[in-house]
Amino acid sequence: MRTQVAVVGAGPAGLLLAHLLRLEGVDAVVLESRQREHVLGRIRAGVLEHGTVELLREAGLGDRLDRVGLEHHGFSLRFDRADHRVPLTELTGRSITVYGQQEVVRDLVEAAESEPCFGVSDVVLHDVTSDRPSVGFTDADGREHVLRCDVIAGCDGFRGVSRSAIPASELTCLERVFPFAWLGILAKTAPAHHELIYAHHERGFALHSMRSAELTRLYLQVGPDERMEDWSDERVWDELALRLEVDGDFELVPGPLVDKGITMMRAFVAEPMRYGRLFLAGDAAHIVPPTGAKGLNLAVADVRLLSRALTAWLLHGREGDALSYSDTRLRGVWRAERFSSEMTAMLHRSADPFERRLSLARLRSVASSTAAATALAQDYVGASEDA
Ligand code: FAD
Ligand code: DHB
Repeated sequence: MRTQVAVVGAGPAGLLLAHLLRLEGVDAVVLESRQREHVLGRIRAGVLEHGTVELLREAGLGDRLDRVGLEHHGFSLRFDRADHRVPLTELTGRSITVYGQQEVVRDLVEAAESEPCFGVSDVVLHDVTSDRPSVGFTDADGREHVLRCDVIAGCDGFRGVSRSAIPASELTCLERVFPFAWLGILAKTAPAHHELIYAHHERGFALHSMRSAELTRLYLQVGPDERMEDWSDERVWDELALRLEVDGDFELVPGPLVDKGITMMRAFVAEPMRYGRLFLAGDAAHIVPPTGAKGLNLAVADVRLLSRALTAWLLHGREGDALSYSDTRLRGVWRAERFSSEMTAMLHRSADPFERRLSLARLRSVASSTAAATALAQDYVGASEDA
């Protein structure tokens, strides 16, 4: 087998990269270890920055997004038993769109001119520092293959194999594990508010989001070692109501759960993002804590640049953007790490009383200062991604 770009992983990063490359006439093959149904059913992020939406539209993927995506012009911060709206569009001229990551993935799988190879195993990267790299794998029927290529894109998420093809002596991994986790649910019930609500409460952080007029997405800060068995549906709803409510204005009507899961909070960056002919993109290279809603948008920003860089190199012999890919993206990655860490520190309940006072001081500053609110809004909508 031969292709120009071997893409490992069919998450949003890998699927979108293959789509953008094929639009430019570059051949790509996507290898995915999970089955199709699993990839399409995975419930994760939901907030798309303006730049992400623009790119998806330009790539011919705007149809369903424009029909069912929900454009939001602000969100609420709740603390001290009061609601403070951050008017994103008024402050930045930009909006965000609420559209589930699994919908983006579905649009990409449906638009793909050739299906990813789902259900592959034993993926091994070979000769990444030579000009003839390859990827060995076993297909879903148990047949072994070698996929020869010009370039490998490692888009296989945090637990993938691509990153480990870089020798430890060439790779610096920077990591912070937070002392809490998120319990997330997707429920068949109407959103209790028309915008997102980020609530800082003495019992812990809570987030109210949505997917449609009938589907609500909700998250609770829980301890890092907490088990799902300890969180009955009833306990989850009671806790959400307590943390999200201010002055009895808020009625959360429990509904049947479509999804329920606990996610660890982690910040992680692998440097560099390129080694020889291997390019890392998305969660394979970096993880942000989810509070700033940046994970998916960062993956999209990586592949936007990577698709252009690889097209220039493979079709026109210009390697410049591919050479600077890692440096350019790491600047954006660290900008998102900084913002996501600050949002996390501001909104979660720390065990440390000093941190707790700092969280409230940060929240009060955003609520009372237009300069502080504008800075936060610019990061949130991704206006600073261009800087
Ligand atoms: P992924 O979506 O992880 O895709 C990687 C793909 O590679 C997967 O399909 C995987 O099966 C495949 N793969 C792995 N190993 C191999 C292998 N050896 N060979 C072939 N394929 C392989 N972000 C937010 O902003 N908000 C959220 O609420 C949020 N919630 C999240 C919840 C969870 C449980 C997780 C894990 C992440 C969440 N994120 C969230 C982060 C966001 O979803 C990710 O940043 C985004 O999925 C990154 O896309 P990706 O394509 O880089 O990686
Ligand atoms: C959602 C997830 C986030 O991490 C976030 O900050 C906002 C919204 C969501 O899944 O809708």
